[in-house]
Amino acid sequence: MSHPSSSPLTAARPRPLSGRVRVPGDKSISHRALMFGALATGRTRIAGLLEGEDVLNTAKALEALGAPVRKTGGAWEVLGRGVGGLDQPDEDLDFGNSGTGTRLMLGVLAGHDLRVRLTGDPSLSRRPMGRVLKPLVQMGLEVLDIGKETLPLAVRGSADLLPIEYRLPVASAQIKSAVLIAGLHALGETTVVEAEATRDHTERMLRHFGAEITVLERDGGRAITITGDAELEGRDVVVPGDPSSAAFLVAAALIVPGSEVAIDGVLVNPTRTGFYTTLREMGADLQFRNEREEGGEPVADIVVRHSRLAGVRVPPERAPSMIDEYPVLACLAAFAEGETRMEGLAELKVKESDRLAATATGLIRNSVAARVEGDTLIVGGGKGVRGGAVVATHLDHRIAMAFLTLGLGADRPVTVDDADTIATSFPEFRSLMEQLGASFTVPEEVR
Ligand code: S3P
Repeated sequence: MSHPSSSPLTAARPRPLSGRVRVPGDKSISHRALMFGALATGRTRIAGLLEGEDVLNTAKALEALGAPVRKTGGAWEVLGRGVGGLDQPDEDLDFGNSGTGTRLMLGVLAGHDLRVRLTGDPSLSRRPMGRVLKPLVQMGLEVLDIGKETLPLAVRGSADLLPIEYRLPVASAQIKSAVLIAGLHALGETTVVEAEATRDHTERMLRHFGAEITVLERDGGRAITITGDAELEGRDVVVPGDPSSAAFLVAAALIVPGSEVAIDGVLVNPTRTGFYTTLREMGADLQFRNEREEGGEPVADIVVRHSRLAGVRVPPERAPSMIDEYPVLACLAAFAEGETRMEGLAELKVKESDRLAATATGLIRNSVAARVEGDTLIVGGGKGVRGGAVVATHLDHRIAMAFLTLGLGADRPVTVDDADTIATSFPEFRSLMEQLGASFTVPEEVR
């Protein structure tokens, strides 16, 4: 077991899954709605905010920085302080498990002349922050723990940031967003160039809040420019369902024979739908129905039926659009006929855990043929999944949910050593799965 207070959970093969559900709000959009609301003038109302621990930690941090965040009626409200208007907090800001909360907030803090210490849990404290500190230091952020690139970390921002042009060294929406957010505070134009399109929620939502942003195709990539010394205005935001959470329900329906499941109101922004593209290539019976726009983002109802799947090659350039879905895709691939090759997965090593290793190890323990070759994960499927093992989750919600999903199709039940971590992104995972007919139990020895 990974830590003393961990809560193991076991998944076993259920009857066919069926029903129509909604998943909670998108995590990426929820963090951004709170932060941009705090940097705006006036009131921002957010409907459908994800009430997961990661997002609630961002809300607490903003409150500590002087921007009140509260739930009124069904929606959340942020009273903004304006760009550059946040206050010195009395306490450290604890981001728990959240890389997104930390990295985007470093972009916010870069533009404020405040001394702030950021902390996180053991998983977050191992994750690389140098990737956002590097451009932010060029703009004027001071790292008070000189040379340190992991949490806990003390920083001091500046009211006089310099605009920069920055080419992303890795495909990361978090780095892009941190620089663009800092660019709100800089005098002049800040440009981020990305070789591959990463999720574009920051660009869409900053525009919605009144920022000036242009996007140009350049050098085979995209150059995103934000005009600094910006003013944002409080807005209404509607958060669509998280496609990364829906992925587990979709995978479960594909694995369990006889299943048919509908998930309403899911974000289908093309920078997020690589998993669904891959499922179609594998032969999944999957439809996006009633496609529409909600709050500036494309949304659809997803209908999925149990399908016979075939292994595929997932090209490296698709990785940014499905980066969080590889653990569950790898589990699903164990049920597909033939081999699935997932290429270009270096970034998986620096997520909430080393997901490349954690996924391969968990599959092998459950008697699935899986191997890692460099940055490629290869899963051999079609021979049934024996299951029966306990999987180490390493404080990683998506590893926990992926292997519980695997357990729904395996011959013998699969246990994860800690299901508590699921609350960081998808607190309703168990109840929604059970509503569809899935079956989970707390293993005997810890009851
Ligand atoms: C996120 C970007 C991704 C993703 C994370 C959320 C975001 O990280 O893994 O869950 O909200 O911008 P990277 O940008 O580091 O790839």
